[in-house]
Amino acid sequence: MTGVLGATRVLATVEQTRDFGKALAAVLRPGDLVVLTGPLGAGKTVVAQGVGAGLHVRGDVTSPTFVIARVHQPDPARGGTVPMVHVDAYRLGNVPDPIGEVDALDLDATLEDSVTLVEWGEGLVEQLSDEHLEVHLDRRDDDSRVVSLIPRGGDWPARAASLTPA
Ligand SMILES: Nc1ncnc2c1ncn2[C@@H]1O[C@H](COP(=O)(O)OP(=O)(O)O)[C@@H](O)[C@H]1O
Ligand SMILES: [Mg+2]
Repeated sequence: MTGVLGATRVLATVEQTRDFGKALAAVLRPGDLVVLTGPLGAGKTVVAQGVGAGLHVRGDVTSPTFVIARVHQPDPARGGTVPMVHVDAYRLGNVPDPIGEVDALDLDATLEDSVTLVEWGEGLVEQLSDEHLEVHLDRRDDDSRVVSLIPRGGDWPARAASLTPA
């Protein structure tokens, strides 16, 4: 991989991983799709929690285990303006158009007006045609995490570069 593809950052603690999510939130806009990949326990939900904090959304951000997707509405009192849709791809299964499936759900928010975060696990993301940022997390032996940003389309390369300073 070259250039910003595969740009990485080490996240030494849970707090740093959460703060990375907050920094990510600062570059997000309505209609964005962020795909969180990596094995179980890698920290995908921790990043989602940081994004939720950065977007000032309501409710605890937890793995959406019993639902396909959970909508977190913004809290205007804290400056929140954009809903966050948090999706567990395991619940979707291996379908040809996963984001279309989510869009077809009767959610209290539309994906165009929201930031959509999908926890994907390993694989499958290659088949995703929609423009997106992949945030890949890996756990190292010392329990730190390495985050790799894989931008796909749009202005994601520039936004990804701003999140992984050299
Ligand atoms: N540097 C770190 N970054 C993120 N999580 C960490 C880190 N160190 C330890 N952890 C722990 O790893 C777990 C990550 O869990 P979670 O975010 O739910 O993973 P996933 O959603 O990828 O399955 C949490 O229990 C968290 O406290
Ligand atoms: Mg999770």
